[in-house]
Amino acid sequence: MTINPAKLMDGQALARRVLEGAKAKVEKIRAASGMTPTLATVLVGDDRASATYVRMKRKRCEDVGMRSVAIELPADTTTERLVAQIRELAADPAVHGILVQHPVPAPIDKRAVFETIPAEKDVDGVTSTTLGRIILGMPAFGSCTPKGIMRLLQEYHVVLDGAYAVVIGRSPILGRPMASMLINAHATVTLCHSRTRSLPSLVRGADIVIAAVGHPRFVQGGWIKVGAVVIDAGYNEGNVGDVDFAGAYEPASLITPVPGGVGPMTIAMLIDQTADAAGLQLGVALP
Ligand SMILES: NC(=O)c1ccc[n+]([C@@H]2O[C@H](COP(=O)([O-])OP(=O)(O)OC[C@H]3O[C@@H](n4cnc5c(N)ncnc54)[C@H](OP(=O)(O)O)[C@@H]3O)[C@@H](O)[C@H]2O)c1
Repeated sequence: MTINPAKLMDGQALARRVLEGAKAKVEKIRAASGMTPTLATVLVGDDRASATYVRMKRKRCEDVGMRSVAIELPADTTTERLVAQIRELAADPAVHGILVQHPVPAPIDKRAVFETIPAEKDVDGVTSTTLGRIILGMPAFGSCTPKGIMRLLQEYHVVLDGAYAVVIGRSPILGRPMASMLINAHATVTLCHSRTRSLPSLVRGADIVIAAVGHPRFVQGGWIKVGAVVIDAGYNEGNVGDVDFAGAYEPASLITPVPGGVGPMTIAMLIDQTADAAGLQLGVALP
């Protein structure tokens, strides 16, 4: 397969630019307030992939001059203990954003934990308040993956107004906010999930396909309409997405690679939203 770079949506390059913008925001905040924007990361248990994600996020903080505070708790942490920890971070004026790395170990009531994060520090977009605001099209620090996808679509001048989009996956951090953001941009959206009937035929009609399923190479090339824009939010073991890239590449007009598509944008949005949260909390106007 010969790859035409013009077809690839380069999340790596766009993420670099978003991070440069975040760095400028951090410098402005420090100059105006003397405070350093700070992200608190909370990691529960010893899942290696989660630990790697947290390390990557903290490294990006460092890259843009932001401070990060790492809270690490054992796998047997109770919901009460975790909620108390989040309350502490919520009350700390030196912490501007809170990220609870998910998944958290199963016995923990993750909804109770997420709901403890105040909306102004919810830079990962996990609370019901944030999701409600996103659905209503109100300002909010939205969930980072769909926000990153919206930035990619904008960067590549994908027309959303009147387009037909199929989103596969209805999780509260990905599929649901994604569908709402697309609807707010005037797309017509079908939100699919594991009980959806005739998924391939729905996808065949789509101008924009967003795969957020969690199954490697789930979306087949034969499902993709010629000229469709294909966004693969999936990230499975071995750097494999939720779309069969080799099959979808030919019919697609634009497609995100895995890795280097949606993934880098997710982290960039987290960092950018933390800078914005710090600006709002410290009363520093940002571009
Ligand atoms: N790039 C990033 O930074 C980033 C961030 C987060 C997630 N991800 C990736 O994105 C993907 C989705 O993540 P998530 O957290 O949203 O996963 P999730 O919570 O497991 O949700 C998966 C969704 O896919 C649906 N689904 C499962 N099997 C299906 C099938 N056979 N047909 C149609 N729909 C099906 C599920 O439907 P039901 O609701 O009916 O169960 C569910 O709504 C994963 O690959 C994950 O690794 C990437």
